Amino acid sequence: KPMRLWGGRFEGGPADALTRLSVSVQFDWRLAPYDLLASRAHARVLHRAGLLSESELERMLAALDDLEGACRSGEFRPTVADEDVHTALERGLLERLGALGGKLRAGRSRNDQVATDLRLYLRDNVRYLVSRLVELETALIGQAEEHAATAAPGMTHLQHAQPVSFGHQLLAHVHAIARDVDRLRDWDRRAAVSPLGAGALAGSSLPLDPQAVAQELGFDSAAPNSMDAVADRDFAAEFLFCAALIGVHLSRLGEEIVLWASQEFRWIEMDDAYSTGSSIMPQKKNPDVAELARGKSGRLIGDLTALLTTLKGLPLTYNRDLQEDKEPVFDAVDTLLLVLPAVSGLVSTMRVNTARLEASAPDGFALATDLAELLVRKGVPFRDAHEAVGHLVVWCQVNDTTLDRLTEEDLAKISPHFAAGEKDGGDVPGPLEVLNVQGALAARKAYGGTAPDRVRDQITALREIVDGQ
Ligand code: ARG
Repeated sequence: KPMRLWGGRFEGGPADALTRLSVSVQFDWRLAPYDLLASRAHARVLHRAGLLSESELERMLAALDDLEGACRSGEFRPTVADEDVHTALERGLLERLGALGGKLRAGRSRNDQVATDLRLYLRDNVRYLVSRLVELETALIGQAEEHAATAAPGMTHLQHAQPVSFGHQLLAHVHAIARDVDRLRDWDRRAAVSPLGAGALAGSSLPLDPQAVAQELGFDSAAPNSMDAVADRDFAAEFLFCAALIGVHLSRLGEEIVLWASQEFRWIEMDDAYSTGSSIMPQKKNPDVAELARGKSGRLIGDLTALLTTLKGLPLTYNRDLQEDKEPVFDAVDTLLLVLPAVSGLVSTMRVNTARLEASAPDGFALATDLAELLVRKGVPFRDAHEAVGHLVVWCQVNDTTLDRLTEEDLAKISPHFAAGEKDGGDVPGPLEVLNVQGALAARKAYGGTAPDRVRDQITALREIVDGQ
């Protein structure tokens, strides 16, 4: 007869269909180490409450250690008859301790246990996740450092807009990831609350000490409301939002890399180790890593949606629906731990086609704004400057030339505003001086701008932030 935690008041056994529906051990078994951790803390609290003698506590802790070893070696495995991780581990304890094993369940319920286990699991795994995010930040910063002064076409609407430092663009992605790390750190503050002691929903009549258990498990405090403690899955939903947003950030970076690696852009060459071939077209080199990063964001968004939908409309307190919290959380953790190292590797090994980036940076009349702003510095209203440069662009199109190839005579023909020498103060450059990409970058030297010096400042600041993460 399979061991259940709730057989007492039932005459017949459960239907097979119920058992198959109800069982969660095939996915919640990964909570076993955390369940054992919480069991040790609970055993100590029972002992302090006088409910376990000194020697019973010692035997209990030794059995938990032994069980942990057996789980780790694979010698102890959950069976299909174990409903969930808690059932399986209680079976393991009973096998080791006989009747004494049955004492550990006093004052706790699977409801506070499972909420505690999931918090412990997530807080632990978020630390790994942060390390992987830091690796990606480091990979991006490394490339940005080499390309702080590499001019590239900056785009809006996927059209050439203004030249930017390619490093500046890479760092934009670092800022997004840095916010993700910050968000996870902030998440941890709210996740650091221990549900243990809440029991099924109302707390325990036994003289337990939830604050002591919380402290032992590395939480900041115990939950102040036992009903909230067992019903709340905000920590899981909030984590899944963080994960989904990381997914979106990876997807946007992935999409850029797909574009950059295309024949039309040719901005980067991916390393062989991070690209794939085609089974039919021998010449192909495909950006599968970037595409999977983009594609996996779909399931991360789905994980968040799944949990929110499960939570919506649940009455207090524990409802079995809550068993559905775990698979989305595990999937999000697994997905990110799989994607992040691949994306980091792709970024750190890609070779940037500097010559092509610099050559195409002025394309699409990307220096037009610089010229208009030059006129503004000479006192021309921006409205008129915009108009004059607009005419100049059309003139260039008609004459099949580009802004950076104009001569002083060309400029003088279009508008008197463009005449060189028409300077108010000594510090206003001539039009030909601003009609070059490096000048355009260097001129954007205010805080947050794309000037290579500011990009290097950003790298220094970001390295400091990343070191602290
Ligand atoms: N396995 C369940 C879960 O993951 C915990 C069991 C609580 N079951 C119950 N009938 N109260 O949520």
